[in-house]
Amino acid sequence: MSNSHLPLVINASRARFYIIGGGAVAARKVKTLIDTGAMIYVIAPNIDNAILDLAGDRLTCHERVAGEENYRAGDYVVLATDDKATNEHQARLARNSGAWVCRTDEPEDNDFSFPAVVDRSPLKVAISTGGATPALTRLVRDRIEAFIPTDYSRLGQWLESLRLRLRSEGTSKERGVFWRRLMQSQAPDQVLARQEASADKIVEGLLSGEDISAGEAFLVGAGPGDPDLLTFRALRLIQMSDVVFYDRLVSPSILSLLPDDCERHYVGKARSDHAVPQDEINQRLVDEALKGRRVLRLKGGDPFIFGRGGEEIQQLAEAGIPFQVVPGITAASGCSSYAGIPLTHRDHAQSVRFVTGHMKDGTCNLPWSELIHPQQTLVIYMGLVGLPEICSQLIAHGMPAETPIALIEKGTLPDQQVHTGTLATMPEYVAGRKIQAPTLTIVGSVVSLHSTLNWRSG
Ligand SMILES: C[S@@+](CC[C@H](N)C(=O)[O-])C[C@H]1O[C@@H](n2cnc3c(N)ncnc32)[C@H](O)[C@@H]1O
Repeated sequence: MSNSHLPLVINASRARFYIIGGGAVAARKVKTLIDTGAMIYVIAPNIDNAILDLAGDRLTCHERVAGEENYRAGDYVVLATDDKATNEHQARLARNSGAWVCRTDEPEDNDFSFPAVVDRSPLKVAISTGGATPALTRLVRDRIEAFIPTDYSRLGQWLESLRLRLRSEGTSKERGVFWRRLMQSQAPDQVLARQEASADKIVEGLLSGEDISAGEAFLVGAGPGDPDLLTFRALRLIQMSDVVFYDRLVSPSILSLLPDDCERHYVGKARSDHAVPQDEINQRLVDEALKGRRVLRLKGGDPFIFGRGGEEIQQLAEAGIPFQVVPGITAASGCSSYAGIPLTHRDHAQSVRFVTGHMKDGTCNLPWSELIHPQQTLVIYMGLVGLPEICSQLIAHGMPAETPIALIEKGTLPDQQVHTGTLATMPEYVAGRKIQAPTLTIVGSVVSLHSTLNWRSG
């Protein structure tokens, strides 16, 4: 095994590439090269249409057997034929002329190779094992692909135009301290959130020597519990927060993703026990941001679905604090997926309705007759305590007593349980068991699909 492979970045627009061979491998190389502006020559008796279709100013196809080619020093020659003797002969010719050789049949004999590329132009990430194990290269490429949001292209373009602008203005702020402070500021995230105007303001502040210490707030949906269901943006903001206010539904494995030095405040809201009153939470978010901190408001599920997210950002907006809202997977989506219960299905339900079963003064205040709809799935949040009343009211308002119902306990978490029954049987079933919050209730004929579509144990 050798450590001799060194990834270098070349300006391909100044290079000439010869590709000897006209099949699928050659086509992949042409596809990689075509947008770089390189001069490409493909030589083979039969050239794939995928290559011929791209022929033009920068790509010339010669449908003939490769012979005594006139390679020049510095050319890149890719040998992609099935014929070892041809590849060896062309490699010799190329090297005699001072050209570089890539042999797709003998990677050990390569002068250069093509890395796998994750393209977020102007950012490009190259992954290479020097041909030793393309399978590993592909695996790592797929992982990086998933990890770097496509908006990094936008950030790269914004940074590139800023660099060019500063260079043309001849400002000494072009390097070192300025760039470090900029990259540690909120500007990159503002660009990723498509708030370039705020990012530009930060740049101007740094250029004029102002201390940019304005805080900001992130209202982030943490999803129903499984940390794999976080969005990329949620994870990024979680990892850069100075202080977090979180509630009961945010799972410990998600909290473990916070930076070690992030200050944590539990403002948990159990059903009838508001650890911290809502007004006070709203005010504390504002106060912390006014200290110049990055304040994370982390909420279970989606902040805009039965999450009071709107109230919290209203106060931030009134105080003029920049904020972002990051959607999360709401309990209805998470629990139904992890329970194998599609919320809509052509044979069962064409619509779905989310309601809260939260009890006020001992009753659920729901528009019962509106909820009775044969082709509709009903998803009830916060409905465990009110379950007997919900079932009896639905029956009383005309829903058949044998309508299937599911109660999903701790949805998406490792100890998820799915309980199924009918409107008639569920109250008694629940009364005889110790069911733990959080639970989500799904009512409708889609629940019958659980027995065949359940893909998780529990
Ligand atoms: C105050 S609401 C918040 C809903 C949240 N904003 C969302 O979008 O999922 C809380 C209710 O969401 C439901 N819930 C949230 N996470 C859940 C989970 N992992 N399993 C089951 N139900 C859940 C329960 O019905 C719980 O009582």
